[in-house]
Amino acid sequence: MSLQGKRVILCVTGGIAAYKAAFLVRALTASGADVRVVMTPSAERFIGSQTLATLSGHPVARALFGDGGDVPHVELARTADLVVVAPATANALAKMALGISDDLFSATVLTAHCPIVVAPAMHTEMWEHPATRANVETLLARGVRLVGPASGPLSSGDTGPGRMSEPDEIADVAAAVAGAANDLAAKQVLVTAGGTQEPIDPVRFIGNRSSGLMGIEIAAEAARRGAKVTLVAGPTNVAIPRGIDVVKVRTAEEMRSAVFERAAAADVIVKAAAVADWRSDSHAGEKLKKAAGPPEIKLVATPDILAELGATPGARKPGSVLVGFAAETEPRPEKLVELAEEKRVTKGADAIVANDVSSDDSGFEVATNRAVIVSGGGAEDVGLVTKKALAAAVVDKIVSLLDA
Ligand code: PMT
Repeated sequence: MSLQGKRVILCVTGGIAAYKAAFLVRALTASGADVRVVMTPSAERFIGSQTLATLSGHPVARALFGDGGDVPHVELARTADLVVVAPATANALAKMALGISDDLFSATVLTAHCPIVVAPAMHTEMWEHPATRANVETLLARGVRLVGPASGPLSSGDTGPGRMSEPDEIADVAAAVAGAANDLAAKQVLVTAGGTQEPIDPVRFIGNRSSGLMGIEIAAEAARRGAKVTLVAGPTNVAIPRGIDVVKVRTAEEMRSAVFERAAAADVIVKAAAVADWRSDSHAGEKLKKAAGPPEIKLVATPDILAELGATPGARKPGSVLVGFAAETEPRPEKLVELAEEKRVTKGADAIVANDVSSDDSGFEVATNRAVIVSGGGAEDVGLVTKKALAAAVVDKIVSLLDA
């Protein structure tokens, strides 16, 4: 893997390992990257900016505010294919985890939408402190990629974990992450998200608690990794990233039409939507009057879009990958796997992401999810993670199924 044609923002924060940033700039540029260096004031106590400017071929950026009203962190973040923070001090990790943005480095990483690689370097006590552990967990859950730290002699004279990984290793990980960032290039990905609403009258409907977040995170991850993404979404208040084509639908029938119109062109279809299983067999044209008493509503089944896609080979592109979700009130991973496999076979999907919707931290409406991913090749227990991290795991699985 190489970094040919990639713009890498290298953020150097203030620890003794900053001296290795010179070798890292060399390794990144040798791999083909266009490197722009951001330094914190503390980093400049350990290595001169002139060294990094000369090696990268560009001035080092340090100031949060430009002279002419320009906003350097926005420009840097928007043009980056990858951000590498090396060395990342305990302070840098804490700022990233908390979203503090009081200097150019922290404002840049907070603005960036591209993948982020972090190479921590600090004394062992700081690395092992519960505060740093918690910050690292937060960053990992958000999809940040960690390299190191290695164990060995530290500047204090002690030996232990805390050494920054070697520049070549960081550059290799950066190239792998940037490569993964494009592993859906030229692929068309169709994602459904959110719940459907099945009308009873002009103001009432049968619906569910899906916020749309899970499907939108999958659409966003696929887009970040180079895919052309179409999102068929039920009503949602979640912001949808730019660059994703959105088709808004309300009912299961509308979602079915929108999906089938696009299915034949899609390399990947992910059905994260919570489609209502039933609808009212009649739809009153006017608001039902309360005074008339409770209406009798006869429910009829909606189309099962996933099962129909799985059972109609001509509806899909040959070699395409079909991924469904399964919402189960089941916290036990081994049981989730069984239920997912059952649904995978009955619905004709290549993979099923089964999530536990029985607890407050998983499933509908929350930012985290507890899930297993089941395909013909076996099961992966992802555990409880953010929906963003689960989306990355689902897209990794999709890439491996496409490759297979
Ligand atoms: O939107 P969030 O608040 O982030 O919540 C995310 C989620 C819990 C809704 C999501 O992770 C999820 O589990 N989505 C699938 C919900 C669901 O409908 O599960 P199911 O087990 O009932 O359906 C299985 C599969 O069949 C799903 O892929 C579903 O899209 C599909 N289906 C179901 C019914 C139907 N009529 N047509 C379908 O295509």
